[in-house]
Amino acid sequence: MGALIETAKRATLAGAPQPATVRAPEIEPGVGCDFDSYLLTPDHALDERIARAKAQLGRDAVILGHHYQRDEVVKFADFRGDSLKLSQQAAATDARFIVFCGVHFMAESADILRQPHQQVILPDLAAGCSMADMAEIGQVETCWAELESVGNLQVVPITYMNSTAAIKAFTGEHGGSVCTSSNAAAVMRWAFERGERVLFLPDEHLARNTAYKMGIPLDRMIVWDPDKDLGGNTADAIRAARVILWKGYCSVHQRFLPAHVERVRRAYPGIRVIAHPECRWQVVQMADDVGSTEQIIHTITAAEPGSTWAVGTEIHLVNRLAKQLTDRRVMSLDTSVCVCTTMFRITPQHLLWALENLVAGRVVNRIAVDDQTRQWAKVALERMLSLR
Ligand code: 13P
Ligand code: SF4
Repeated sequence: MGALIETAKRATLAGAPQPATVRAPEIEPGVGCDFDSYLLTPDHALDERIARAKAQLGRDAVILGHHYQRDEVVKFADFRGDSLKLSQQAAATDARFIVFCGVHFMAESADILRQPHQQVILPDLAAGCSMADMAEIGQVETCWAELESVGNLQVVPITYMNSTAAIKAFTGEHGGSVCTSSNAAAVMRWAFERGERVLFLPDEHLARNTAYKMGIPLDRMIVWDPDKDLGGNTADAIRAARVILWKGYCSVHQRFLPAHVERVRRAYPGIRVIAHPECRWQVVQMADDVGSTEQIIHTITAAEPGSTWAVGTEIHLVNRLAKQLTDRRVMSLDTSVCVCTTMFRITPQHLLWALENLVAGRVVNRIAVDDQTRQWAKVALERMLSLR
């Protein structure tokens, strides 16, 4: 594995690098690539150097930034968005280098959708996602085999964008699709036109919230615990289920609780609560609005001046909205800071390091999904992108 990592990290612009599957947790950012000197670069020197490197690269590089990214990084993004918008952007761009200021699964998806002349770079390879790590391919294969052992259930798999390329490939190969938080309902409808049941990976909460909103009662949903036989269910319960929810969650969004909604409603009469659908079902039920990061931004931006909002999502997005929309009050639903610590790993130093290496003719931290995985993962991603 070490050799593969080195291949990916030392790939040069002149010689086409060998695709290698690079997994975030096994790699130290910047190893062997002179990253340490960037750590000593004072913050005040960064903006100018990042802007200069970006200008030198011109149309050769595009920077994509997720809404949870810190301000010092996201301000350099050519395109900002939620997971859906960024994947559409990754598929549409022509730049040779896609520098993804997001997390590992987003960069993998960009690599799956890219054109042959493009390469995808994740400025810190340790920017992973704890939710994506909650579904391993071996566990999913076991789950599928166990479901088949129960009978001909006609299960269509859906995987949330927040999953590894291997899970996306599994989904594509088994007639399913990827979804994001902004199109989960459309993808679920598509799946029910093709089968009797949905296996939804890896976010239990997004699956429950989406299915419930579509009119599927809670007692027709079961949770699949990969550490238990039959996911902790009886064969009869599986046969009765319409949606099988993988037992995974986002460590940021699961922190928002019903008590937080009660507290803000008491403290700020008339407040509106908006939650991301990765939040627990009870929180989503109590919220006034629910939506992806892009939808949250749109809803609050379009709201009445003077309105007050409590937002159940990552703190960088909430703080940015509060700073930008000074004629309305925007606060986090939870007063203790809910930060996506892996997204936070991408610092301006990492961005600068990645860009200046590109200027010098070196590709560092390339994300390269192997061809076999790419083939089926692309099928699953394109199924999603073809749905309107
Ligand atoms: P969206 O930006 O698609 O709403 O997803 C949020 C998220 O958790 C990204 O990891
Ligand atoms: Fe993963 Fe949650 Fe961070 Fe999104 S917010 S990248 S789901 S840990």
